[in-house]
Amino acid sequence: MNRRELFKSASALAVVGLLPQVAIAGTNGPDAADKGPRETLLLDKGWRFHDGDIAMPVLITHDQTYNAAKAGRALGAASPAYDDSDWTEVTLPHDFVSFQPIENGTNVDQGYRRRGIVWYRNHLKFSDADRGKHIELQLDGIATFATIWFNGTLVARNWSGYNSTYIDLTPYVTYGDSDNALVVRVDATAMEGWWYEGGGIYRDAWIVKRNPVHIVTDGVFAHPVKEGDEWKVPIEVTLNNSGTKDKTVQIVCTLLDAEERKISEGFIDLTVPKLGNAVGKASMPALSDPELWSIETPYLYRVLTRVTEGAEVWDEVTTTCGFRTERFDAQTGFYLNDKPLKIKGVCLHQDHAGVGCAVPEGVLDFRLRKLKELGANAIRFSHNAQNKALMDACDRHGFLVMAENRNFNASTDYLEQLEWLVRRDRNHPSVFLWSVFNEEPMQGTEQGYEMVRRMSAVVKALDTSRPVTAAMNDGLFTALNVSDAVDVVGINYQQHQYDAFHAAHPDIPMFSSEDTSAFMTRGEYKTDAVKHIMASYDDDAAPWGETHRAAWKEISARPFVAGTFVWTGFDYHGEPTPHTWPTNSSFFGIMDLCGFEKTAFYIHQAQWIDDRPVLGLVPHWNWQSGDKVRVMACANLDEVELFVNGKSAGKQAVDRLNMNYWTVDYAPGFIEVRGYRGSKLVSKVRNETTGKAVALRLVKDRPTLIGDGRDAMPIRVEAIDAKGRVVPDANHKVTFGGTAAIIGLGNGDPNCLEAEKGDTRSLFNGLAQVIIQAPEMAGNAAAVINLTARAESLKPANIEIRLDAPKAATPRQPTMLPMMVLDSWFRAPNATAHPDPNQRAADTDMNSWAWFRPGELFGAAKTDGYSLVAANYTPFASIQKNGGRVVFTSITGTCDIYLDGQAIGRKDDPAPSAMTVAIPPFGGSRRLSVVFKLKAGEPFGFGGLIRIGGPEKT
Ligand code: GAL
Repeated sequence: MNRRELFKSASALAVVGLLPQVAIAGTNGPDAADKGPRETLLLDKGWRFHDGDIAMPVLITHDQTYNAAKAGRALGAASPAYDDSDWTEVTLPHDFVSFQPIENGTNVDQGYRRRGIVWYRNHLKFSDADRGKHIELQLDGIATFATIWFNGTLVARNWSGYNSTYIDLTPYVTYGDSDNALVVRVDATAMEGWWYEGGGIYRDAWIVKRNPVHIVTDGVFAHPVKEGDEWKVPIEVTLNNSGTKDKTVQIVCTLLDAEERKISEGFIDLTVPKLGNAVGKASMPALSDPELWSIETPYLYRVLTRVTEGAEVWDEVTTTCGFRTERFDAQTGFYLNDKPLKIKGVCLHQDHAGVGCAVPEGVLDFRLRKLKELGANAIRFSHNAQNKALMDACDRHGFLVMAENRNFNASTDYLEQLEWLVRRDRNHPSVFLWSVFNEEPMQGTEQGYEMVRRMSAVVKALDTSRPVTAAMNDGLFTALNVSDAVDVVGINYQQHQYDAFHAAHPDIPMFSSEDTSAFMTRGEYKTDAVKHIMASYDDDAAPWGETHRAAWKEISARPFVAGTFVWTGFDYHGEPTPHTWPTNSSFFGIMDLCGFEKTAFYIHQAQWIDDRPVLGLVPHWNWQSGDKVRVMACANLDEVELFVNGKSAGKQAVDRLNMNYWTVDYAPGFIEVRGYRGSKLVSKVRNETTGKAVALRLVKDRPTLIGDGRDAMPIRVEAIDAKGRVVPDANHKVTFGGTAAIIGLGNGDPNCLEAEKGDTRSLFNGLAQVIIQAPEMAGNAAAVINLTARAESLKPANIEIRLDAPKAATPRQPTMLPMMVLDSWFRAPNATAHPDPNQRAADTDMNSWAWFRPGELFGAAKTDGYSLVAANYTPFASIQKNGGRVVFTSITGTCDIYLDGQAIGRKDDPAPSAMTVAIPPFGGSRRLSVVFKLKAGEPFGFGGLIRIGGPEKT
């Protein structure tokens, strides 16, 4: 049968028992702005998950060995026919490690959570209309080592948990009713870091359908540059052509401002060879006065890139970009848009309380808003590439981003990881530094220098507009070291070396790529080594670090140190230094794992914020009578005065570097700090002694959620006294309910061993956090969900969250429930007499019988006679137990059907028709044979799928 006939027969298939899972509403997408002929479909549903490894079958015979070596014939759980019907259904993103209990004996840096090997499977459905399209699978992040099969063929291996994998599925896709089996084996035993890395398919997955001539993924580079007084927007577009003929196309690039006004245009004519790529470059007319992107006003432009051939639009992509300049000066630091800007940055790992590494966009957004409130202007994504949505959010919120590569390695695979990072992120105005490593033993050696030289060249080949850096914690003064191969030197800790390095290299710009590493437990004010508690007065730091105050003092005093990246903005799971079990998350954060402020938050606000008054006051005022209490105020004002129960404890000149302290006697009541600019009172903060907790209170992060099934928000849980004040030492166990879906729980206590999933969590020092996710709204009707909280002896709380209708439905890739398809058949040479249905080719004979897939009719028989076809299979467990049916979509010709040599069905009418044959319960592997009776000149064979289903429903 030729291709056209195959196409026809596939589209004529009867649909038997397929259960497509239908796409429902949503707003998010990798290129949400994609328009025109491409389809970007979210692949979050239909996934089945198996916790643990599944060994591949052991091959014994020649026949097994020969067949297993073939495309499409992957074995075991990688095989399309594998029974996953009883696996757990999961929705992506899915960090399976965040569901694990915290167990002593597992890895400390992974937060004492078991990782290991797991499998995911999905069943995709492509319609006949998809035939001829270029079909790509995009997996945004899988931790850690991933092997990916599609329809029984190994299509990719990805050896880093932090980069995306783009896989061209086009050659292997089957259309119509076929099941397209996608299988991912994840080996999360492997670790790439010394922090919590999560595990599984923990970022989004997409199917992108494009025309044969299309813009490749991450294929538009549009980063404005300033030359003299003029701005240029050099545009580079990479096209691919998966079609069968070379094509000449036109590309139009249109620059749009935030109001969608057309600013300028560039044109490219490009010939794209069949099965090849072509790169086109366009230059737009220069601009003199664009709106600049900055920390305060992160103005974004967009470039619309459209590929056409005559009236036909082949592809269209929108790329966000921003106009800004950057410059490092070895004497005076960093300049954004030619204005000096001290970098006030934080290092971050990607995880959050409750959700591990599968952090929804709503929570990412919450974290960035907290960092804005802190006064931070930069983020170092230590030590790996991030979720694309987070990079977009940094553009929108106005953060400078130090983008960092995970693996320090100049071999091919690893250079490809670096190349992917730069290609994906080089349009972001937020990205201002490419970092090729963090603290590497070879940093002070010739070998390290050679490796960085190569890695830097990979970056420069793609982007010359940002400097390359590396975060060095040693080796700065050897004869040849990494600092000789980078544009800007990042120094981790080593604050005593700033001056020496600057003196030795007055022309090399430098900044602190990492510092501080100070310890605090939120809401605790007495260090207790036995209980693993760190006081929140900024007294304790790692031996290699400094307190928050001391580290900034060194940096702020030196104009040639371009700025800081404090370790870290938020606590993270794992690395509980200076403690170990049962402590399972870090103490370094300016905020805790939930994003609740520690004292460090007010310290940095006082240090970093100039444009509004800052006044913070610690501790709470619930102590024992007779206690001597150290009180600390953090302000950016001129003077602060502390009052204890209305009586002044003294006025002090504000010290923005060291903060202000008093030691006072406790008596129930209140403390109040008043802050002055000159003689004017501009701010006051009061901490009152609370009564005992009487009620719970739930506080939303935002007024509403989008009802797209993906939007999420943290809800703050508070224990309050009769006057509505948060009780700072309340530690009640709270149980949550209501209609809101809870996807994670936290309380910021690094020593807490409670699960982060489920419906119960204790408060820690008065607070906890619940992360809720919106349901998918059917239609546009407004809806409301609610969350309730209960704890013994407290008045329960209830809040309602209104759902906003999504602006547009999220297009989703259709998936199917698992079904067993018999698609690997063998056909014996034609016989003149009725053959033995049990007949087999010799185990060593790979050539007498022919392979075929159902869907292929065999055409007309040349002579009268018999044709034996057979398939081996192992039914799904439920069918082995209960029996089932073989469902032939269409059989042409007369035939007898046998199961393990026993006749189970007969077809007497040669006209094409569907047929269903019952099969009895039976354990293990089976052989289905069909003997066609041939008549010269008459067609015979199978049209469409043959599948094994459960028993007929009565
Ligand atoms: C640094 C390292 C970070 C983190 C930190 C803790 O040396 O770069 O990843 O481990 O120490 O202080």
